Amino acid sequence: MTPLVLGLNGSPRRDGNSDTLLREALRGAQEQGARVTVFDLAFLNISPCKACEECFSNGDCVIRDDMDRVYAALEEADHVIVASPIYFSGMSSYAKLAVDRSQALWARRKVLDRARRPGTGSIVLCAAQPDARFDNAVSELRAFLLGIGIAPGAVLKVPGAEGRSFAAGRPDILERARELGRDAVSTNPGP
Ligand SMILES: Cc1cc2nc3c(=O)[nH]c(=O)nc-3n(C[C@H](O)[C@H](O)[C@H](O)COP(=O)(O)O)c2cc1C
Repeated sequence: MTPLVLGLNGSPRRDGNSDTLLREALRGAQEQGARVTVFDLAFLNISPCKACEECFSNGDCVIRDDMDRVYAALEEADHVIVASPIYFSGMSSYAKLAVDRSQALWARRKVLDRARRPGTGSIVLCAAQPDARFDNAVSELRAFLLGIGIAPGAVLKVPGAEGRSFAAGRPDILERARELGRDAVSTNPGP
């Protein structure tokens, strides 16, 4: 079957660095024969997790919003690529909203013991400072992937990404993103 690669974009800047690199990675995945789908989280209606713990009983979130579509895609994908700008040494708030709402998927795995079929994930992070800190975002996004039953893999860190067109003007970084997408599919060709 054709593998599905899901991209989650945590940047509000269209054609910004995260957007550009995520789409390049998805192009790489398509070159390997994958179907791809992408959610621009900043343009979706996603409320914060209320910590009501209702999902602990059935694995479903009580909130009805655009996260419904993201849940379905996160469960269906063979590979997930999360891209985010670094904001105050962490992931963006748009990415974090979706991560926290994924508590419902965590509950399916860890509370209700409902296994997910094998999936892999990778991470793309862009920051303006040459000496930017990526470790917080990497740690949280790895925990997110592991928590929803997806094995974390490659991480592409892009420091010095000053200005939204930085990545677009760097063929070497674009190629690294495309390679990340290609590798995602070649290492996890799906069912
Ligand atoms: C609210 C906010 C906080 C930021 N915090 C950091 C930071 O802690 N470290 C850093 O290097 N860059 C920081 N930046 C810069 C962005 O990470 C950088 O511009 C990045 O390339 C944006 O990616 P994008 O084009 O995908 O939106 C911040 C930008 C914003 C808007």
